Amino acid sequence: MAETKLKVRGGKPLRGEILVRGAKNFVPKAMVAALLTAETSVLRNVPLLRDVDVTAQLLRAHGAQVDYDQDAGVLSITPGTLRLPDPNRVNTVAGSSRIPILFCGPLLHALGEAFIPDLGGCHIGSRPVDFHLSVLEDFGAVRNAQDTGLHLTAPRGLRARKVHLPYPSVGATEQTLLAAVLARGVTELSGAAVEPEIIDLIAVLQKMGALITVDTDRTIHIEGVSELHGYRHTALPDRIEAGSWACAALATRGDITVRGARQADMMNFLNIYRKVGGQFEVCDDAIRFWHPGGALRSIPIETDVHPGFMTDWQQPMVVALTQAEGVSVVHETVYENRFGFTEALNQMGAHIQVYSECLGSKKCRFGRENFFHSAVIQGPTPLHAADIEVPDLRGGFSHLIAALAAEGESTVRGIDIINRGYEHFMHKLSALGADVEKITD
Ligand code: EPU
Repeated sequence: MAETKLKVRGGKPLRGEILVRGAKNFVPKAMVAALLTAETSVLRNVPLLRDVDVTAQLLRAHGAQVDYDQDAGVLSITPGTLRLPDPNRVNTVAGSSRIPILFCGPLLHALGEAFIPDLGGCHIGSRPVDFHLSVLEDFGAVRNAQDTGLHLTAPRGLRARKVHLPYPSVGATEQTLLAAVLARGVTELSGAAVEPEIIDLIAVLQKMGALITVDTDRTIHIEGVSELHGYRHTALPDRIEAGSWACAALATRGDITVRGARQADMMNFLNIYRKVGGQFEVCDDAIRFWHPGGALRSIPIETDVHPGFMTDWQQPMVVALTQAEGVSVVHETVYENRFGFTEALNQMGAHIQVYSECLGSKKCRFGRENFFHSAVIQGPTPLHAADIEVPDLRGGFSHLIAALAAEGESTVRGIDIINRGYEHFMHKLSALGADVEKITD
C-alpha cells in the first residue's frame, strides 16, 4: 500500500489563524446517542475526521440514515428501524476505532442484542474494557464470546443499578449514561468522569428527554425514562486540538489564533501555558497563543482526569518543554504507556529520560508496576531534523510540532493517523506558513 509522508522544512515560527470545530471525543458519542430514539437528531459543528466517518458508517451498517454536510458541519441522523449487521461488516468498518463498544446500551434497548468487535484505538497502553463490560452486566446484559468479538444480549431488558467505577473512566461513564437513560429505575453512578465532553453528552441526553443530575463529588444520578426524542445540538469545541496548536505556537516561537477555542474547557491548560512562559489572550470566539520571546520556564506537570491537566495535552506540551530552561518533570497518571513518542524527540536532539517511579505529588496506579510513566526533560535543546515514524495520534502530532520547530528537513512517516483527530491539518499548516510537502510513495 502507498505510504503518505511529509517533508517538513522546520525552524520557522507558525503564525496565523485557524479554526477548531467540534471535539473528536464528543461528536461520535453524540452520534451514538441518536440511536436512543427513532426520531431525527441534528448535530452541528461536526468536524471532518476519520472517527466521525467510522461512526457514520457504523450507524449506517445498523440501518440508520446519516447525512453529513461537511462544509456546514451539520450531521443529521435518523435511526428508523435498526438491525444488527454481520459481525464481519462491523469489524471491517470499525477498523481501529474504539467507538463500537458505546453502541451496546442503545442497541440492547432497541434490539435486545449488540455486538462488539475486537477493539483498537491508539497504542498508548493496554486499554482494557473491563469497566464497560462490568457495567453492562450489572444492568443485566449477558455476554457470549465469539471468534470475531463479543455478542451481548439483554433477555429481560436493562435494569438500573448502583454503579461504582474504580477509576473515573471517560468511556465507562459514557457507557453507563447511554445504558441508564432508558433503563428501568434510578442509576447512581459514583466515581464518574466529568470531562466537558461528558457534560456535553449529558446536555444532549437531557435535550432528548433524559433525567440526569451531576453532583459535585463525581456522582451522577440517572432516572430511567420510557422514551427519548431527537435532539438539535452544537458540539463543544475540541480542546485537545486547540491545546495542540497552542503548543505548536510555543515550540516554534510563533503566534497562533485558535478560533473556536473556549477558555472554560481549558483552564488548567492555560495556567500551565502561562507558567511555562507562553502568552495568551482570550477573545470573543478565539484564543490567541504566542511565544513572547526570551526563555521558556521548566515546570512540573501531572496529568489527571478533569479538572486536571489532560493526558492528551501532555505530548504536545512535552515538545514545547524541550525548549524550556532547566528540568521539567511530567508524571503521566492516566495511561501507563504514553511516553513512547519521546524516543523520536531524543533522536532529534532532546534530552528526555523516562522513569517507572511516580515523579509527582501523588502515587498513581502505575508506580508499583514498572511502567515508564514519568519523564524528565532537560532543556533547552535545539532540535534538528530527522526521519521519524508517527506512533499514535497525539504522539504523531507532537512529532510534527517537533519537526516544525527543528532546523533542517525532516521526513514524518505514517501521517494518515493524524486525520483521526486533527481536521484539515495540512490546510491549517499551510495557513500558518509551515513549509510542508505531502509525498505519496
Ligand atoms: N480503563 C480501564 N478499564 C476500562 C476503561 C478504562 O482500566 O474498562 C483505564 C484505561 O486503561 C486508562 C484509564 O482507565 O488507563 C482512562 O481511560 P478512559 O476510559 O478514560 O479513556 P477512553 O474513554 O478509552 C477517552 C478518549 C481518549 C482520552 C481518554 C482520557 C475517546 C474516544 N478517547 O478514552 O482520547 O485520552 O478518554 O481523557 O473519547 C485521544 O484523543 O488521543 C485519546 C486517546
